[in-house]
Amino acid sequence: MRGQLKSAFKSVMGNPTLAMINMAGGVPHPSTFPIMQLRATIKSPSSSSAPSNRESTLELEKSCRSKSAESLDELLQYGDGCGIDSYCAFLRRYTQRVHCPRYADWGVIASCGNTDAIGKAVSLFCEPGDSILVDRWTFPGALSSLASAKVQPIPVPMDSEGMIPEALDNICHMWSGSAPPRAIYLVPTGQNPTGTTMSLARRKAIYTVAQKHNLAIIEDDPYYFLQLPSVSSSSHLHREVELSDQGQDLIPSLLSLDTDGRVIRLDSFSKILAPNLRCGWITAPTYILDKIQILNESTILQPSGLSQGLISKLLNDTWGFDGWEAHLRELRALYTLRRNLFIQAVDRHLAGLVEYTVPTAGMFLWMKINLGNAAADPTAMSRLLGNMKKCGVMMAPDMPFSSSGPSATMESATGGMPERYLRAAFALVDIDMFELGLKRLAQAIASVSDAHSATTCSPATSLDAVRSDITHLDVNSQ
Ligand SMILES: Cc1ncc(COP(=O)(O)O)c(C=O)c1O
Repeated sequence: MRGQLKSAFKSVMGNPTLAMINMAGGVPHPSTFPIMQLRATIKSPSSSSAPSNRESTLELEKSCRSKSAESLDELLQYGDGCGIDSYCAFLRRYTQRVHCPRYADWGVIASCGNTDAIGKAVSLFCEPGDSILVDRWTFPGALSSLASAKVQPIPVPMDSEGMIPEALDNICHMWSGSAPPRAIYLVPTGQNPTGTTMSLARRKAIYTVAQKHNLAIIEDDPYYFLQLPSVSSSSHLHREVELSDQGQDLIPSLLSLDTDGRVIRLDSFSKILAPNLRCGWITAPTYILDKIQILNESTILQPSGLSQGLISKLLNDTWGFDGWEAHLRELRALYTLRRNLFIQAVDRHLAGLVEYTVPTAGMFLWMKINLGNAAADPTAMSRLLGNMKKCGVMMAPDMPFSSSGPSATMESATGGMPERYLRAAFALVDIDMFELGLKRLAQAIASVSDAHSATTCSPATSLDAVRSDITHLDVNSQ
């Protein structure tokens, strides 16, 4: 960030006031914007106080500003690097309500989602050649951002609750490289790819280590609102899920534990409204947001005004806090149902072939694959992926998530047989396809672990091929 200057134009001009006759900017006149009105039909969350199946209409008018949302002309016009006022105001109030930050000078700024925000947060703390502490398995989009910034990921071992604080402390303590790491990047809830969620105790322990070594924490938390009830064993999973209210308390975020202003929290609407709205928000101390504003002004300016306007009107007017929270509860109920049915189907078809921990947030099941006789064979995983393709099922292999590079993926944590994993997402595929998909996986694993048997899967039907392509697209990018 040292080399990043505030826009030279803005530094000279400042912000125009209404009293000025503004002839400075290359700004089109709003009368040239042909979009006169935008109307959207919005579904009411079924667990809200509104009658279920009710819909409401949301309207944005060309030049008429409502009490809580800007006019279309304002949304369509150039803006600053902070985001639309009403959008940020809602998110500030909501962040206060959910996370109650413990220091005064915090704020929120609009982002184009967490992929955009990760790169910006990293560039605040790392220079090319620096290192950053990350989960052993992590989001490939973050690894790409680090590679572009020429920042080295330092893998921290994980267990069933994510990053291990003692391991983090040990790495910092034993550090012998030139510049010690200044930041941790982690996904505390429904981690991608492992599905792990940090307990409150784990979050506190990670925060204490961050304080000890003076590390900033980049809290990438797109699955925060998708926390699911925990289960003591998969036999306790039931098909019936209360859609009305699960009364579940969300585990406090790292932001809500932060007393020093060392957490940069990244939230996204991708998993809780729709991904291609390309909208999210960053919460951090205001002096950090000032820097992100500069970065926004030299890259995206801000997310699309139409997306922000739509979200702002939806959250401020159409749904309000109550409707928004009802929508989130409905999502949690839906993902709970999907997770439970998926785990039941895994137990039916993959017993002995995989090991897993039941995820308590998000949309991923991380399965350790038992490759039997083929476990020591370095080609086993690529043969498995080939067989899965032939059988017509696609899941994400472990390698793209490895923060230690491809060769380390082959090493076992225990020094024994190499451990190999697949990440299954239970969010997109039709529930009716769980059984068939997992049966196909079982066939594919069996045909690798028993070297003598040929793959006996029937070729995918055309419908299945389409479904597999959709899953493939999702897996590749996310
Ligand atoms: C951990 C994590 N961070 C960020 C993203 C990307 O989020 P966005 O769509 O907001 O860029 C994903 C999406 O899969 C993710 O799993």
